[in-house]
Amino acid sequence: MKRVFSGVQPTGNIHIGNYLGALRQFVELQNDNDCVYCIVDMHSITVPQNSKELRKHTLDVAALYLAVGLDPEKAIIFVQSDVPGHSELAWVLMCNSYTGELSRMTQFKDKNKGKESAPAGLLTYPILMAADILLYDTDIVPVGNDQKQHIELCRDIAIRVNNKYGKTFVVPEGRFLKEGARIMALDDPTNKMSKSAENAYSRISLLDDEKTIKKAIMKATTDSDGIIKYDLENKPGVSNLLNIYSSFSGMPVKDIEKKYEGCGYGEFKKDLVQVTVEALRPIRERYEEIRNSDELVEILKDGAKRANLISQRTMVKVKESFGLGI
Ligand code: TYM
Repeated sequence: MKRVFSGVQPTGNIHIGNYLGALRQFVELQNDNDCVYCIVDMHSITVPQNSKELRKHTLDVAALYLAVGLDPEKAIIFVQSDVPGHSELAWVLMCNSYTGELSRMTQFKDKNKGKESAPAGLLTYPILMAADILLYDTDIVPVGNDQKQHIELCRDIAIRVNNKYGKTFVVPEGRFLKEGARIMALDDPTNKMSKSAENAYSRISLLDDEKTIKKAIMKATTDSDGIIKYDLENKPGVSNLLNIYSSFSGMPVKDIEKKYEGCGYGEFKKDLVQVTVEALRPIRERYEEIRNSDELVEILKDGAKRANLISQRTMVKVKESFGLGI
């Protein structure tokens, strides 16, 4: 069995991009692999957080993990800060990374734009992510396209350490889906859908009701030629909606194009609302049940115990390779 690891930040507004790019893969992989899924709260504090809100969002994401279909009998589900190995390994990796490669990360450049000084954690964020992955001898990391550069860096660090100190880490591979890997903002299809965008109608959150979903899709930016055709370069808005339709319905994009040949955007969008609402309905219903159950915290505590056992074994190996401790 292959080891799978991935994580999501608990920053609220988990949206269909997170689901179609990552969470859906988590569920698919849990049956035939040894899966470890984390809520990465320590990544969230690279930008200021309200402590009460952060803890609430951590539980929200845990409930969403279960609501989308993750099964704690099949996958380990836990909160990053409950396993000390993550920050312990991050320090070791930090000593084997270069500020140059970190400052070239596009996410760092975006977040740091126009600022004279940034929290050091924003720069070293990809190292904590590499520690998350390498701590569990991970083979496969299911993520969206925006994490590609971080996965590459993680692989580089693993190879660098293995070459210098002897085989210590498994070198992981990213896993990206064809259709869901990059869902774009509905109001501006040249930007990815994001949890933090100011315009709430730029995204569809997993827990949005039918009215909100309808409003977001009907307002979505398209173009003026009225043809439903996949063409990323010239028709980014329509292509994004086709991707969403295809991801939720399982229908290939070519078949969707054929189905809506000669129809206007209005009809296509109306059907996309239905497809989206139906796909998200069971998630919303399960979420309500799970979020308020006492079981949730117990699942996370049990997950942390199991994750700790694996991480301690890796840290023994790491300390041996580096000559740390006695
Ligand atoms: P985060 O919390 O921003 O996003 C969670 C997952 O959702 C994917 N994603 C998208 N996929 C398609 N279209 C989009 N518009 C879109 N937006 C987000 C992300 O690629 C991600 O898979 N650094 C990570 C969290 C992390 C992690 C890890 C992931 C920390 N440690 C170790 C994997 C392994 C992040 O901020 O994801």
